Amino acid sequence: MKLFNVYNLYDVTPVSAKGCTITDVKGQEYLDMFGGHAVVNIGHANPHYIKAVTEQLQQLPFYNNSVQNPLQVEYAKRLGQISGYEDYSLFLCSTGAEAVENALKIASFQNGRQRVIALKRGYHGRTSGASAVTDNPAIQSLYNRVHKVIFVDVNDTATMSRELETQKVAAVIAEPIQGTGGVHTPNPEFLKTIEDMCHQTGTVFILDEVQTGFGRTGKFFAHQWVGLHPDIICIGKPMANGLPCAGVMIAPQFDAVKGRLGTTFGGGHLEMAAALSVLDVLVDDKLMENAKAMGDFLKEHIPASPRIKEVRGRGLMIGIEFREPIAPIRQKLLYDKHIITGAAGMNVMRLLPPLCITQAECYTFINALKSLL
Ligand SMILES: Cc1ncc(COP(=O)(O)O)c(C=O)c1O
Repeated sequence: MKLFNVYNLYDVTPVSAKGCTITDVKGQEYLDMFGGHAVVNIGHANPHYIKAVTEQLQQLPFYNNSVQNPLQVEYAKRLGQISGYEDYSLFLCSTGAEAVENALKIASFQNGRQRVIALKRGYHGRTSGASAVTDNPAIQSLYNRVHKVIFVDVNDTATMSRELETQKVAAVIAEPIQGTGGVHTPNPEFLKTIEDMCHQTGTVFILDEVQTGFGRTGKFFAHQWVGLHPDIICIGKPMANGLPCAGVMIAPQFDAVKGRLGTTFGGGHLEMAAALSVLDVLVDDKLMENAKAMGDFLKEHIPASPRIKEVRGRGLMIGIEFREPIAPIRQKLLYDKHIITGAAGMNVMRLLPPLCITQAECYTFINALKSLL
């Protein structure tokens, strides 16, 4: 059997990693400015993480959700404390798309409505409902298009209000910063209006923090920069720093009904031990503070160039929009300068490095970019 060929792969084969450095099969080191797509927030091979995962692996890597799992209970408590959502409940699953599916399902169960509003340029994953609320027809099959979804332009408050006033909308789903769509931040007033109108119209307000959460922007959640308080929050990617772990944080007004939601792997023992250690490192190593400081530093020092249209984002979620396709520059960064970056569309370079990145590593990236421009 061969692999189902759905990915564009670079000719790099990583075999080990430490901090923000990845080493490939030939012994070549790379600076990781992409964090495995916003997953490796505490850095590669963090010793506390390795110890926690190794000990759990030797003790009990997995049992399913038919027995007591104190690690899940402890994790929910710690996550509530660190995120400021102590009165919320946590449903655990394995991927961001699964978190989005469950969030939409919880919303629709709650108010008995079917229609969902999503934002243009939004990305929420590739499973059925998640790709239906993603503004990219290329990833939607006819099978996905049966969901009732309305796409509204970011910051189009008038259309959003008109749709919500019908009182027929189950949920609005949005990213506080649109990552895959190009690192665009909706106006805070627009998001606040959505939140207020959702409350007035019995609509569920879902924020997708799968990419932006866990300190990436300098606060635990990106929406906390603008004082939002969503009904449901989707989390994923960096939760267990590379082990598949995701979840849905659910406000107290939602009742859990046995059997409605479920998953085999969600909240497994190994993932929970990893996720607990991620919270430890985030706090102990002050990674949120570092994300803010290093993000500001990068944005200040990314060279001004007629080839660059805009640098945007918050903390260590940065988009550099070029006036030209970025593939050649990213290839040079990778193969000549040995720096891994990400992309959003044709023209936006995306930086999502581990939150433990140092100023010296930021300089390495800045100098490499300068020399290529
Ligand atoms: C905002 C957002 N939501 C959901 C997802 C889907 O997560 P996963 O790939 O783990 O299913 C992603 C992945 O990039 C994402 O960025």
